[in-house]
Amino acid sequence: MEAILLVGGQGTRLRPLTVSTPKPLLPTAGVPFLAHQLARAHAEGVERIVFATSYRAEMFEAAFGARAHGVDLAYVTEDEPLGTGGAIRNAARALTCGPDDPVLILNGDVLSGHDVRAQVKLHEQADAAVTLHLTEVDDPSRFGCVPTDDQGRVTAFLEKTPNPVTNQINAGCYVFRRSAIDAIPENRVVSVERETFPSLIESGATVMGYVESGYWLDVGTPEAFVRGSRDLVLGALTSPAMPGEPGERLVLTGADVAPDATVGGGATVGAGAVVEAGATVIGSVLLEEAVVAEGAAVRDSVLGRGARVGPGAVLDGVVLGDGAVVGPGNELRHGLRVWPGIELPPTAVRFSADT
Ligand code: GDD
Ligand code: MG
Repeated sequence: MEAILLVGGQGTRLRPLTVSTPKPLLPTAGVPFLAHQLARAHAEGVERIVFATSYRAEMFEAAFGARAHGVDLAYVTEDEPLGTGGAIRNAARALTCGPDDPVLILNGDVLSGHDVRAQVKLHEQADAAVTLHLTEVDDPSRFGCVPTDDQGRVTAFLEKTPNPVTNQINAGCYVFRRSAIDAIPENRVVSVERETFPSLIESGATVMGYVESGYWLDVGTPEAFVRGSRDLVLGALTSPAMPGEPGERLVLTGADVAPDATVGGGATVGAGAVVEAGATVIGSVLLEEAVVAEGAAVRDSVLGRGARVGPGAVLDGVVLGDGAVVGPGNELRHGLRVWPGIELPPTAVRFSADT
């Protein structure tokens, strides 16, 4: 089966990490996020994937080339971002399958353990135009809200509505009949969520919901990104692309963790990163060359390449851009983001080993 992978978004909610690297390429459990998606797609029977790229398009081919994780790869770039539907239509130029064949469409920022083969089977049994993977979340207002009838047919598609009618949401993985892709208007911005799905439903086309509530996560926010990496390291979702066995921590080759430092809770320590004596790193992602100095405590945070956390500093739920420096003794809490290269001076109360 062929698939189209949507990877053209700017990843604004993950800035400043996405200033230099597109969201789907951010290191997650030790490898680019997409490595997990490619490996899982391969395991589900996908043989060829067309990347629909826009933002920092050239970085994708540089990362994966013509074949990776058992899948043949092609790249189609939009001159201007065409939205999700426009991107699918544009990328379909590179598909080789026939008009009645099923094509898998994947949002490029989703970790999902669902059974893609079962989704395709439902699609074929129902002879549907489109079959959407649906799951349940606590706050459906941040997603596409998708009610279904008792036959599993989708009755409406309400993108990011403030008044969701159900907790059942669009999980960002679709099976399209190829001819339904070719019916999307060409060369203009189209949103599948706001235009294609509502008009298919309106016109009476068969749009099915494949409901499966296994492991599912959209890694589009810093908290979710950290959670996704942590879950992969801990083995909550198994990925054939994980470098090493699941466990409390993933310490990559060339990282330097002091013997009495505490690293756990699914934390990843990147190549060349350093965790000094007495420091604590829990459930976080340390990119290459990041440094956590002695006695510092880092929890549920992302440290960009070469970022440094000074002695005794405390970070909880924080994003440090590449090369950012947090001076000794600072305490940064939930949601704070430090831009690349910014240096926060030491606090007046300096850390010392006996305070
Ligand atoms: N090529 C291309 N061009 N890709 C794009 C474009 C574009 O113009 N715009 C967005 N994308 C890609 C993003 O890179 C991402 O992989 C995917 O399309 C979805 O975009 P997001 O920005 O992550 O959307 P979202 O998370 O707010 O909402 C979408 O996903 C939810 C599930 O995670 C919607 O599909 C919701 O309905 C859905 O519930
Ligand atoms: Mg998303």
